[in-house]
Amino acid sequence: MNGIKVNGLTHDYGHGRGVFDVSFEVKEGETLGFLGPNGAGKSTTMRHLMGFSKPQSGTVEINGLDCTKEHCKVMEEVGYLPGEVVMPDGLNGWQFIKMMQGMKRTGSDERVRYLLERFKADPSGSVRRMSIGEKRKLAVAAAFMNDAGVLLLDEPSSGLDPLMQEVFIDLIREEKERGKTILLSSHIFSEVEALCDRIAIIKDGKLVSVVDAAEIKHGLHNVITVGFSSEKDYSEFLSSGMEVSGDDRKELKCSVIVDDEEINRFIALIKRFRIRSFAEHSVTLEEYFMHFYKNTKTFGGAAYA
Ligand SMILES: Nc1ncnc2c1ncn2[C@@H]1O[C@H](COP(=O)(O)OP(=O)(O)OP(=O)(O)O)[C@@H](O)[C@H]1O
Ligand SMILES: [Mg+2]
Repeated sequence: MNGIKVNGLTHDYGHGRGVFDVSFEVKEGETLGFLGPNGAGKSTTMRHLMGFSKPQSGTVEINGLDCTKEHCKVMEEVGYLPGEVVMPDGLNGWQFIKMMQGMKRTGSDERVRYLLERFKADPSGSVRRMSIGEKRKLAVAAAFMNDAGVLLLDEPSSGLDPLMQEVFIDLIREEKERGKTILLSSHIFSEVEALCDRIAIIKDGKLVSVVDAAEIKHGLHNVITVGFSSEKDYSEFLSSGMEVSGDDRKELKCSVIVDDEEINRFIALIKRFRIRSFAEHSVTLEEYFMHFYKNTKTFGGAAYA
């Protein structure tokens, strides 16, 4: 199968750290956003896909190749942007680019020049003296230079200024149109929303949700914020058993995530109270994600419309 396949990937580093029974697929031509708090296991999963670490159990495949056993072949099929860019100290930018071209055994000079120009990167200086952003731009050029069909991008736009983030988003859009298969980890919701077809959320090394980006955009879940007329009504609603995602005692407001099947129960309940205001909006990706970040069953406090 072309694309990325992670099946039961487990690597236990002890003390609850690592990745545990992680399974997902990125189909050919699809972009999967990989979201999760710090230390969740995103980079670890990507390192296994690059064959840098060996799974304790489970398998990782790219374009039907076993990433652990066929590491060298996989390297040729993949463009990888690591989360942390480490460059050998004694090199200048051009030498780094040449080194990467040698390692990948591809990467035409023309494409390298195109990428460097696009990101306004200047490889003439020593990498030791480059800023984080300057190094990141070279690493982006290196990841894209072999025009690989599969891209593993670990927080690709971290360290890039807002202008360069835009350049980067445009580049990914073009790569998507050209049919690339992309796994993209990020902490930037707007970037994930703009680029990803599906989103996988990982927490404490375990996959907790895989959702269609369109499902969130089209608002399958809604947040309803109700303002109550009195402290008594507000308190009674809070103790009614309805799962409240956010509340503001000062404003006497409560927010509730209501799915289509819960709407009647919610309306029947709310009729018992005197209400001052009522507002509804679709759950944003950020709210959806924060729900998993916060380790609660609710959607956090950012729910006021
Ligand atoms: N080689 C290793 N030895 C021990 N622990 C490790 C090793 N590699 C990763 N870990 C642990 O596994 C967990 C997952 O780390 P990982 O780097 O994959 O997180 P992440 O999701 O990429 O986080 P971030 O958003 O901060 O980049 C962390 O707790 C980390 O300390
Ligand atoms: Mg990481």
